[in-house]
Amino acid sequence: MGKTSLAALTNDYCPQSLFLYGTYDDEGKADFGLFCWFSYTWDGELGVMACIGGSKLTKENIHKRKVFSANLVTEELLPLADFLGNTAGHSPEKGRISIKTEEGRVLPVPVLTDSPVNYELEVAQFIPLQDGEVMLCKIRNILQDDILAKGEGTSTEKLAAIAPVRTTCNRYFSWKGENLGAWGEPMAKIEKPV
Ligand SMILES: Cc1cc2nc3c(=O)[nH]c(=O)nc-3n(C[C@H](O)[C@H](O)[C@H](O)COP(=O)(O)O)c2cc1C
Repeated sequence: MGKTSLAALTNDYCPQSLFLYGTYDDEGKADFGLFCWFSYTWDGELGVMACIGGSKLTKENIHKRKVFSANLVTEELLPLADFLGNTAGHSPEKGRISIKTEEGRVLPVPVLTDSPVNYELEVAQFIPLQDGEVMLCKIRNILQDDILAKGEGTSTEKLAAIAPVRTTCNRYFSWKGENLGAWGEPMAKIEKPV
C-alpha cells in the first residue's frame, strides 16, 4: 500500500466518540458544550483525560468547581449536541435552549437525562498548555441507562439500540457508519431558541 506524508496535522479518518460536558455557571445555571478530545487513563483504576482548547464557558466553570459531567452523544441527541458545539456558552441564545437535565448522584454536576452513559468527573490534575489544557479526571460515578446496565442482549445489540455518534473529517457518522452531516448541519433540525 502506498503512503503519503501529509502537509498539515489532522486526525481525519480516526473516528472519535462525542460527549457533552455539563457544568454549572456562577448562577447555578447548567451549560453544555460538545467535546471529542476525550479518552481514558489508567492509574490503578480507570480515569478520564480531556483536552479543552482556547477559552470557553465549560473551561471557566470547570476551573471554578473542578467537577463536570461527560454525557455520551447518540443519534437522537445529535441535533441538540451540534447546536451546543457550535454556540458559545456566553451567547444569550445558548442560555435559552431548554435541556432535560438531572443532578449527578455523587457530584454537584448537571447530567443529561436523555444520554445513556454519564460520567461524573472530578479533575485531579490540570495540565495547562499554550492554548489549551489537559485535565486528568477521577471518575466518581458512572450512570448507565437500564437498557445497558440491566437489559438482555449482547453488547452489539445494545450499541445498535443507543447508536452513539462518531466524528471525523469534520462530519458526524452513525454507529453503522452512515453520514449524518457536516459539523453545523444537524442543528438545523432543532427549534432555535428565540
Ligand atoms: C464535533 C465537535 C467537537 C468538539 N470538540 C471539542 C474538544 O474536544 N475540545 C474543545 O476545546 N472544543 C471542542 N469543540 C468546540 C466546543 O464544543 C465549542 O467551543 C462550544 O461552544 C463550547 O461550549 P461552551 O462555550 O458552552 O463551553 C467541539 C465542537 C464540535 C462541533
